[in-house]
Amino acid sequence: MKKYFLIPALAVTIILICLQFIRPKVDNPPVTGDLQAPEQVKAILVRACYDCHSNQTNLRWYDKIQPVYWQVANHVREGRKGLNFSNWDKLAPADRKGKLWEAINQLEEGAMPIKSYTFVHSNAKVSKQDLAVLKNYLAGMVHDMPNDTSKIHALDKQLQAKAAQERQKLPESPNGITYLPDYKSWQVISTSDRFDNETMRVIYGNEIAVKAVKEHHINPWPNGTILAKSAWDKIEDTNGNVTTGAFKQVEFMIKDNEKYKSTKGWGFARFKTPKLTPYGKDAMFTTECINCHKPMHENDFVFTFPIKN
Ligand code: HEC
Ligand code: HEC
Repeated sequence: MKKYFLIPALAVTIILICLQFIRPKVDNPPVTGDLQAPEQVKAILVRACYDCHSNQTNLRWYDKIQPVYWQVANHVREGRKGLNFSNWDKLAPADRKGKLWEAINQLEEGAMPIKSYTFVHSNAKVSKQDLAVLKNYLAGMVHDMPNDTSKIHALDKQLQAKAAQERQKLPESPNGITYLPDYKSWQVISTSDRFDNETMRVIYGNEIAVKAVKEHHINPWPNGTILAKSAWDKIEDTNGNVTTGAFKQVEFMIKDNEKYKSTKGWGFARFKTPKLTPYGKDAMFTTECINCHKPMHENDFVFTFPIKN
């Protein structure tokens, strides 16, 4: 009797194993003009949409198992076709507004992110609060978008002046590293949400870092590399919905083999919210950083394995 069940079961297993070798390719073309948006807005989109709507698809191991992988590859291909945040600056300002408006509608209707995806990636769920943040951002865009260029220039000038003003009073870490506000516009090279359940993190790289990733020169990372890691509280409700809570801190690692010789070529700094207070009583705080990063010495003391382009 048992044999009759065993043979079909075996056949299914063999087919599933064979399927693992027939794979459509999901590669990440270069990011040419990533979406520039306030950090909170961007974090939501990166977490919930970037796997299918950017060139920074980050497939987890469980996405790569067939036959799921077929569906995933198809979602990524189709998703990028309709909306790709990695080519965002190719869109005219009005089209950006239009796309965002469409995105928010899709979200409100519950059509996006795709249900089968959020079922497995619970971090990609978008809460009511997240939606409010996105709507707020869109509303701001509609107001701020002047339609003649002289007004755009005037606005640019004003923003630059404001940025310069802010730079003057930037906090400084005890080892002399100043806070780098620009990291928010850098490219996201990874997100980490599975390490523990307390916080959600986004890891950004400056231009040198992004180039190094592209050219596979990240062990060691070249001088001039800056990695930034920002962390938010993770709020999980009783239904398992996850949202981004308060912004906690941002950390930097700056590569300079000469300057930071004593800490393996990396300059460390951490700034804690709400006032971006520099971390550490004196410059020795970096021993704490490097000690914890030491297990990664074969990876140039870096934990992150960047999403490959
Ligand atoms: C698992 C992959 C996946 C995720 C995650 C995902 N999408 Fe999509 N998205 C798709 C696919 C596939 C399509 C095209 C087919 C369709 O319309 O159903 C699409 C289409 C869209 C479109 C229509 C684009 C057009 O003009 O054709 C919008 C807008 C959109 N998604 C927004 C979002 C937003 C916003 C998020 C994040 C909150 C998101 N999506 C997350 C896969 C995804
Ligand atoms: C308790 C261990 C621990 C300590 C202490 C620590 N880190 Fe990390 N750090 C990690 C882990 C683990 C990651 C990987 C990303 C993640 O999961 O958050 C990381 C990632 C980073 C990254 C992103 C690049 C990478 O390596 O992946 C930066 C930047 C960073 N840390 C800066 C710092 C600074 C600055 C300090 C000291 C003020 C510090 N870290 C102290 C464990 C630590």
